[in-house]
Amino acid sequence: MTHHLSASILAADTANLAVAVQAAAAGGAASIHVDVMDGRYVDNFAFSPKTIADLRRVTDLPLHAHLEVAEPVRALPLFAAADMIIVQEDTLADLAAAQALIRRQGNQVGIAVNPDQPVERLEPYLSEIDLLLVMAVWPGFGGQPFDATVLAKVAWAAAQRQRLGLAYAIGVDGGISAATIGAAAAAGADFFAVGSAVFQGDVAANVHSLLAQVR
Ligand code: DX5
Ligand code: ZN
Repeated sequence: MTHHLSASILAADTANLAVAVQAAAAGGAASIHVDVMDGRYVDNFAFSPKTIADLRRVTDLPLHAHLEVAEPVRALPLFAAADMIIVQEDTLADLAAAQALIRRQGNQVGIAVNPDQPVERLEPYLSEIDLLLVMAVWPGFGGQPFDATVLAKVAWAAAQRQRLGLAYAIGVDGGISAATIGAAAAAGADFFAVGSAVFQGDVAANVHSLLAQVR
């Protein structure tokens, strides 16, 4: 199984983003995770469509836009230049319609589930997603502690994938570090969005050693 580390630039030095993403790529990151925050769904503000456009010029890695916003459907067309759009399931009244919109604009589809939300309601949508992203922290900020209770949702996602013969990635976002990545992988995760454990000190070495733990 290949393990995918997506470097979450929320924790990067935003005055030197090109350097940050290039260092993550050198360490073996498979994509760049761009959190989009509107100060409404979460008490923080983060990246915009221009970040996607600017990063595109400095990296060949796929760019994932994680929409932590109150009105994701309005935002979808603005992020059409991303490779994947990840939406929070709790922000969508009609998940199937949002999936169809994302596909129609040519993006891969990711669905994120908050720590307090059950994952089972996603079952009807699994055949149409590329990534099921289990949040192990509350959306809004990097550097929060890892909530290990969400690993039951990772295990559920892995069992469903097997049962249904599907191929979506199973991800964990939040609190992934040298201390937690092994447990996430053991539960069945093969995709890790990682911010603060990557973007401090030697970025390339951090990515490399996190991936070495799950190989
Ligand atoms: C939280 C974001 C995460 C965040 C993770 O709202 O969705 O992607 O960057 O940060 P760490 O890895 O520091 O928990
Ligand atoms: Zn995120």
